[in-house]
Amino acid sequence: MAFPKYIPNLAAQHPLYLFNQFEKFRDGTREDYVMSKLAKTLSLEERINIAVYYSQQKAKSRTGGDPTKAEAGEKLFAAQCAGCHGENAQGFRDMPRLAGQPAEYLGIALRRFKEMDPTKHSTPMIGVAGVLSEGEIEALAEYLAGW
Ligand code: HEC
Repeated sequence: MAFPKYIPNLAAQHPLYLFNQFEKFRDGTREDYVMSKLAKTLSLEERINIAVYYSQQKAKSRTGGDPTKAEAGEKLFAAQCAGCHGENAQGFRDMPRLAGQPAEYLGIALRRFKEMDPTKHSTPMIGVAGVLSEGEIEALAEYLAGW
């Protein structure tokens, strides 16, 4: 089944990261039209099971991107992102995996951080994304999608 490209790939995410996102959707720290409702209907056991299930799936890399953009994205990632997200964009318990996410999803996430009001939210991504140009966002998204 082909999923819409604005949906994140949950495969190989850290189980605690996934579990914590459910908790954030439940208490309103993170909001999404579908996920906020869904998270509230799942039992604790279901949330744990889903997090563990997805964390054990293998992430498949995506191909067919623009190689010039991806190359620029690789340099940007190494310089500005790898320190937190990991050299292979693999993520950790408090850090989402970015490798293999659809470029469209990554672009949406970065633009959303860029538009956030830093006085109301406390994620380091606001500062990080705030200084990225549209071209840099596209390059990073292209690079990470093709991991
Ligand atoms: C200071 C640490 C730090 C740096 C540097 C950093 N990030 Fe992040 N990033 C985070 C954290 C923490 C999150 C977790 C989500 C949140 O805060 O809402 C995140 C979330 C994200 C997300 C959302 C993923 C999702 O599925 O929700 C994207 C996309 C992202 N980062 C891309 C980048 C890119 C691209 C760079 C480099 C330009 C970068 N990050 C640099 C800490 C960092």
